[in-house]
Amino acid sequence: MPRPERHVFVCVQQRPEGHPRPSCSQKNCNEVAEEFFFNLQQTQAFDRIQVTTTGCLGPCSEGPSVLVYPEGVMYGRVGKEDVAAIFEEHLVNGKPVERLLMPKDFWG
Ligand code: FES
Repeated sequence: MPRPERHVFVCVQQRPEGHPRPSCSQKNCNEVAEEFFFNLQQTQAFDRIQVTTTGCLGPCSEGPSVLVYPEGVMYGRVGKEDVAAIFEEHLVNGKPVERLLMPKDFWG
């Protein structure tokens, strides 16, 4: 398997009702993950881009959280409608999407 140019991690953490910390699953993170997989399928960029669902990335209150390496860029409050921009502008063309960056108080 070739090493991907970019690897995106999508938090799909769940927590039980009443847990003191929020979770990305309360904010439709599964739709976000599915949209990344859909974009990957559409572009057939399997040799360049890898998409992985993951547990908690840390800034739960600002989720759904999405982390892109090798840049170490974190996105916050990502909605399904934001995925195409992250995929095309960042994962394919290498330019992070400024308007979706996680605030520096949470990742910086
Ligand atoms: S639950 Fe998603 S960042 Fe913590």
